[in-house]
Amino acid sequence: MKICCIGAGYVGGPTMAMIAKQCPEIEVHVVDLNRERIAAWNSDSLPIYEPGLAQVVEEALGRNLKFTTDVDAAIMKADMIFIAVNTPTKTFGVGAGRAANLEFVEKCARRIAEVAQGHKIVVEKSTLPVRTAEAVKRILSAANVDNGATFDVLSNPEFLAEGTAIDDLLNPDRVLIGGESEAAIKALADVYAKWVPRKQILTTNLWSSELSKLTANAFLAQRVSSINAISALCEATEADVDEVARAIGMDSRIGPKFLNASVGFGGSCFQKDILNLVYLCEHFGLREVAAYWEQVVLMNDFQKRRFAERICRTMFSTVSDKKIGIWGFAFKKDTNDTRESAAIYVCRDLLRERARLSIYDPQVPEAKIRADLIASMGNLSGTVSDIDRKLVETNVTVVRDGYEAAKDAHAIAVLTEWDEFKEYDFKKIIGTMKAPAFLFDGRNVLDRTMLNKLGFETFGIGKS
Ligand code: NAD
Ligand code: UGA
Repeated sequence: MKICCIGAGYVGGPTMAMIAKQCPEIEVHVVDLNRERIAAWNSDSLPIYEPGLAQVVEEALGRNLKFTTDVDAAIMKADMIFIAVNTPTKTFGVGAGRAANLEFVEKCARRIAEVAQGHKIVVEKSTLPVRTAEAVKRILSAANVDNGATFDVLSNPEFLAEGTAIDDLLNPDRVLIGGESEAAIKALADVYAKWVPRKQILTTNLWSSELSKLTANAFLAQRVSSINAISALCEATEADVDEVARAIGMDSRIGPKFLNASVGFGGSCFQKDILNLVYLCEHFGLREVAAYWEQVVLMNDFQKRRFAERICRTMFSTVSDKKIGIWGFAFKKDTNDTRESAAIYVCRDLLRERARLSIYDPQVPEAKIRADLIASMGNLSGTVSDIDRKLVETNVTVVRDGYEAAKDAHAIAVLTEWDEFKEYDFKKIIGTMKAPAFLFDGRNVLDRTMLNKLGFETFGIGKS
C-alpha cells in the first residue's frame, strides 16, 4: 500500500507522520507546492510547533515517510490519495466572507484526474461543505475518458486539535469514514485499525461524514460562545464564571470539558467552518438555522471587542501612549499558529486607541506577529492604509520574554494561556511596572488572589 497526501500543513504533516509511524509497511509521501514548507519538514526545524511531533517525524522520516514537492510522481505511485489542503473562507466574489474557498481542493482533484492511472482511493481530509464529494467525483470521472483511471471517493475528516495533535491522533475519540464503496472504506479503516480500536472507527455515508465535521466544530465553538456569553453576565452580577462552569459541568448531560471562558476562540477552523455552515443553510433557504449558528461567531466577536474595551475603560478611558505588555499571541497554548487568534483583534483594537504594545509569545516569530497585525487593519480585500501600517511599525515592539514586555508597562494582558506565565516572578514584575499596575487575564490562568496581594489590580474573564 502506498499513500500520498496533498498538503503538508497542520493536518497533512502530523496525520501522515502518525500513519507512517504506526504502519511501517506503508510508504507515505506528503507533497506540497510550498517549497519552503517541504524543506522545513525535511530539516531539524519543523514548520509546525506541536508537542511530540518531532519524535514521530524523526522515527518515520527516511524510512517510510517522505516530504516532497513532486506532486505528480506521488499521485502516480499511490493507491490512496489524501487531500489535506487549506479551505479558507472566500474573500472575493459570491459568498465572500462566508463560503469556503474550494479552489485548492478542486485543483487537487484536477491534478489527480490528470496524472492518475489504474485505481485510486481519493480521501477528503480537508474540512469541506457537505456534498463537495459530488464535485470531486465528477472531476475525477472525467479522467476515465482520457486515461482509464478509476476512483473511489471517501470522506475522512480530521478532528485533531492543535497543541494536542499527537495525542489526538494516537488516541482519537473516533475516526470517521464516509463513503459508497465497501472495499474502499475497508481499505482506509484497515490503515487506522493498526492502532485505533475497530469500535472507534465509525463509517457513514459520504454526506453525513462531510456534515459531521462542520457540525462538530459548530457545537464545540458554540460551547465556548455560550460560556463566554455567561461570562459577560457574571461580570455584571458578581457571579464567577469558573464556579458556574463547574456547577453546570457536573451535570453529566452537559459535561465539564470545553467550558473555559476566554478572550474568544481563535484558530483556523471554528469561525471558517461555522460561516461555511451558515452559508450552506442560506443556500438551502434555511434562514433561521443560518441565523442561529451565525450568532456563535457574533458572540465571539463581541467577546474579543469587549475585552479590549474593558482594558480601555479600566485604565481611565485612555490607553493612548500607554505601554501594554501582551503575553501570548498564538490562538491557544502549545502551538505557533496565530490564525484568527483573539490576540490579533485585541491588539488591533488597542492599537486603534493608540496604545504602545510590547508583545511576547514563546513560539510566534516577530515577522508573523507584525504581518498578522497589519493584515488585521485591512478591509476584506486586504487593503491597508499607510496610517495603519505606520501604527504597527511605530507602536508595536516584539520582545523575548514576558518580563521585558511588562517593564515600564501600565498594564499586562494575558491573551494565550502559555504555562510559563504561571511560573513568573510577579514580585519582580510589579517592581518594574507603572502604578497602578493593571493585569487583565484573558484566559483566567493566573492566581489573582496572590497578584492582588502583591498590589496588582487584576481583572479576569467572567469575574468581578
Ligand atoms: P494549512 O494551510 O496548514 O496547509 C495546507 C497546505 O496545502 C499548504 O501548505 C498549501 O501550500 C498546500 N496546498 C494548497 N493547495 C495545494 C495544491 N494544489 N497542491 C499541493 N499543495 C497544496 O492548512 P491546515 O491547517 O493543514 O488545514 C487543512 C484542512 O484541514 C482544512 O480544510 C482545515 O479546515 C482542516 N482541518 C484543520 C485542522 C487544524 O487543526 N489546523 C484540524 C482539522 C481539520
Ligand atoms: C478545533 C477542534 O477542537 C478540533 O476537533 C478540530 O479538528 C479543529 O478545531 C479543526 O477543525 O481545525 P483547535 O482549533 O486546534 O481544534 O483547538 P481547540 O482546542 O478546539 O481551541 C479552539 C479555540 O477555542 C482556541 O482559541 C481556544 O483557546 C478556545 N477555547 C477552547 C476556549 O476559549 N475555551 C475552551 O473551553 C476551549
